[in-house]
Amino acid sequence: MKEIVAALEARRETARLGGGEKRIDAQHKRGKLTARERLELLLDEGSFEEFDMFVEHRCTDFGMEQQKIPGDGVVTGWGTVNGRTAFVFAKDFTVFGGSLSEAHARKIMKIQDMALRARAPIIGLFDAGGARIQEGVAALGGYGEVFQRNVLASGVIPQISVIMGPCAGGDVYSPAMTDFIFMVRDTSYMFVTGPDVVKTVTNETVTPEELGGASIHTTKSSIADGAYDNDVATLIQMRRLMDFLPANNVDDVPELPSFDDADRIEPSLDTLVPDSPNKPYDIKELILKVADEGDFFELQEAYAKNIVIGFGRMEGRTVGFVANQPMVLAGVLDSDASRKAARFVRFCDCFNIPIVTFVDVPGFLPGTAQEYGGLIKHGAKLLFAYAEATVPKVTVITRKAYGGAYDVMSSKHIRGDVNYAWPTAEIAVMGPKGAAEILYRSELGDPDRIAARIKEYEDRFANPFVAAERGYIDEVIRPRSTRRRVARALAMLRSKQLENPWKKHDNIPL
Ligand code: HXC
Repeated sequence: MKEIVAALEARRETARLGGGEKRIDAQHKRGKLTARERLELLLDEGSFEEFDMFVEHRCTDFGMEQQKIPGDGVVTGWGTVNGRTAFVFAKDFTVFGGSLSEAHARKIMKIQDMALRARAPIIGLFDAGGARIQEGVAALGGYGEVFQRNVLASGVIPQISVIMGPCAGGDVYSPAMTDFIFMVRDTSYMFVTGPDVVKTVTNETVTPEELGGASIHTTKSSIADGAYDNDVATLIQMRRLMDFLPANNVDDVPELPSFDDADRIEPSLDTLVPDSPNKPYDIKELILKVADEGDFFELQEAYAKNIVIGFGRMEGRTVGFVANQPMVLAGVLDSDASRKAARFVRFCDCFNIPIVTFVDVPGFLPGTAQEYGGLIKHGAKLLFAYAEATVPKVTVITRKAYGGAYDVMSSKHIRGDVNYAWPTAEIAVMGPKGAAEILYRSELGDPDRIAARIKEYEDRFANPFVAAERGYIDEVIRPRSTRRRVARALAMLRSKQLENPWKKHDNIPL
């Protein structure tokens, strides 16, 4: 028996070495951890249960029968994150660049199937060059089946992808179908095809960073939801994110102990909105002062900064915050901001996470650039997402809620459950100046008359009371009591029941 156990340990030891010491050293020299080191950091200590450590590929082309490495380039299994089950797979770049063979695909599929059956989240750590070139269509078939499982799991269990090295082909398309993508700065890249292929096809010379580094995907393409400085920082943040997420689409949100009084009054919020309607202020201050312990996990922080999205907690329970940001483009809704927030609202709705919306929006951004870029369709995504959402929706208008953007931002008319406004709220079709100039165009030559018209419009609509008189606003609240009001509304809505008519799925404007 002793010898048998020793033989097992020896086989395990070989498998753990992956592509060998030399490649492990190269991985470390690039500032990257190995697949197993990453899983150790991601999961609770000692909780990782590995599966399929001895799986090998069956390819016999291109001399591959001579090159078999147990595990075949991916480490799979399950463990816990702060005590909660998570299924995991980590690509091993030291083995054929982490590329996916048929056998490697089967390992991932097994984990995907288990995660779906157990209704627990799945986290993929990617560091890989896509389909294994030597395997041809067998590898493509493998990826196809992984994609299919990504889609079936979408909206049932949270799927998180972490890009931790150069990733191409299927190793970017599979992440693209998951809920969140995070990257590591300077060591991770995402592209459909790498710089060499780009050079051949388009004669364009680009560096991996320029083509698909974290700097591109967090600011320009919006593919990534966030990026961190190194592997360790990234994995720590993934543990933090997991604490916000429910296990699946029928479970309740996690509830953590909170030491923050739900009745906490914040007098400083009374002066958050400046006297001048055109002066900006930082909406994140409001989020931080409302959320439990000021803990806010922001997503897409560097992209479409005119809208802020992310997770926080109220009375220990996860909520999604969506807020217009007056500091950037006056908080206007453009195509990028609409798409960014729409996807987040849909994630929250999939997973029973209540949505708290803070509104200060001057409308949709006018102009040819936006119209040619499809603002109508992109703006409709956010409207659609809010309107279809059945989770509790609590809205606070802090200042401007103009035009169509008023309707879109979780208004009463699209089933906002509790809609508050601060006394500084202005709810109108447009700003007083624009309104007066359209209504009284013939008086434009007379500055005094126009000033009087602007004042007249301001007096009528630059307040929350016209909306409150109609019941579109449930209550005008003092800014200082926003946390207490939102917490109470969410508590009241805890067992909200609302169902949309049966359908196969909706047809959101894509
Ligand atoms: C087999 C691969 C591989 C692949 C990398 N390797 N990609 N082996 N199949 N797809 C191997 C290399 O031969 C090398 O082996 C080792 O991994 C490390 O790769 P390097 O090129 O030395 O590393 P680096 O310079 O960092 O570049 C990494 C890379 C690049 C950017 C990922 O290797 C690359 O561009 N690979 C090809 C990407 C690609 O086009 N994949 C197919 C996509 S199609 P040695 O033995 O030297 O260590 C696809 C279909 C899915 O995925 C469907 C999508 C819808």
